[in-house]
Amino acid sequence: MKKLTEKAAKENKLSKNEIIELLINENPFLFKLADKIRKQTKGDAVHLRALIEFTNICKQNCYYCGLRCDNKNVQRYRLSIDEIIECSVKAKQAGYQTIVLQGGEDAFFDTDKICKIIKEIKKLDVALTLSIGEKSYEEYKAFKDAGADRYLLRIETTDKELYQKLHPKMNFENRIKCLYNIKLSGFETGTGCLVGLPGQTIESLAADIMFFKELDADMIGIGPFIPHPDTPLGNENKNNFDMALKVMAITRLLLPDINIPATTAMETIKPNGRIIALQSGANVIMPNLTEIKYKSKYELYPEKNNSNINGEEETIKVIKEIESIKRTVAVSKGYRHDIK
Ligand code: 5AD
Ligand code: SF4
Repeated sequence: MKKLTEKAAKENKLSKNEIIELLINENPFLFKLADKIRKQTKGDAVHLRALIEFTNICKQNCYYCGLRCDNKNVQRYRLSIDEIIECSVKAKQAGYQTIVLQGGEDAFFDTDKICKIIKEIKKLDVALTLSIGEKSYEEYKAFKDAGADRYLLRIETTDKELYQKLHPKMNFENRIKCLYNIKLSGFETGTGCLVGLPGQTIESLAADIMFFKELDADMIGIGPFIPHPDTPLGNENKNNFDMALKVMAITRLLLPDINIPATTAMETIKPNGRIIALQSGANVIMPNLTEIKYKSKYELYPEKNNSNINGEEETIKVIKEIESIKRTVAVSKGYRHDIK
């Protein structure tokens, strides 16, 4: 295993079978090497991205997600444009250099409104990431032209059959098309997958990693699947941390210079999950700056949000965590190709 891991780090390449080997076998060296590569390519500075969850209204019905439209136990909300800008100003004042606007697929926020918000936020001299789902090429292009810098759209799984089962109103080919359109529009492109979905195989996780490489994604977010009781998958297995960490570490070996977050889902299912991820290949954290009154309602999965702590407290907590492992907080905007 050690040899195979070293080869992966040297050549940034693995066959599907080799990835499967790494996923199946116990191999603490994998995490050590992913950490070493992260240090070489990205340095010790951790990039903080301020996450603003601006609408939990979603027309989609993803089987795993607490915000799916069939879940009637959610109090739905959307921030006003003024609230979004106010929250972004606070993030900027707190030192953030990237704002991430994330929301469900909410038709209220049409292209004009999103472009207006983009232009306002860009006045703050920050990098802006959008995570608002599937759109047409024209819409992505309009967002880019309005000044947005990055776009996140997880493929979730590259197993087409599983994808179709879990996303009743969506289409796998369209998802892929969206990702290539995002790239074509000039965005730094982020994708990623869920790990531990019922019916998901090791082979398909290996294919997910191959897909990240093929797309040459700039950011990859890996989330362990966490069952939400108000969804059809509420009773499924939730011990997915270790496998998610492996998928993340292998991704670091194959795409050494990309941005990889220690995801909130990792922190949610494992105490210190975020620190473990930062020491296994990750170099980004996305603290949640959504106002307390809203963030408990953005429940993709249970216990997602530290709902009783506000954005300022969350920022302090994250910085302390970073310093506790002798890392620093980055001072640049943190594009993929920024010089270290
Ligand atoms: N467990 C973990 N992650 C989830 N997401 C949605 N539902 C869950 C869940 N139950 C993730 C999806 C989506 C991102 C915003 O949240 O991968 O892309
Ligand atoms: Fe909507 Fe995203 Fe949840 Fe799917 S994962 S239901 S698109 S918020």
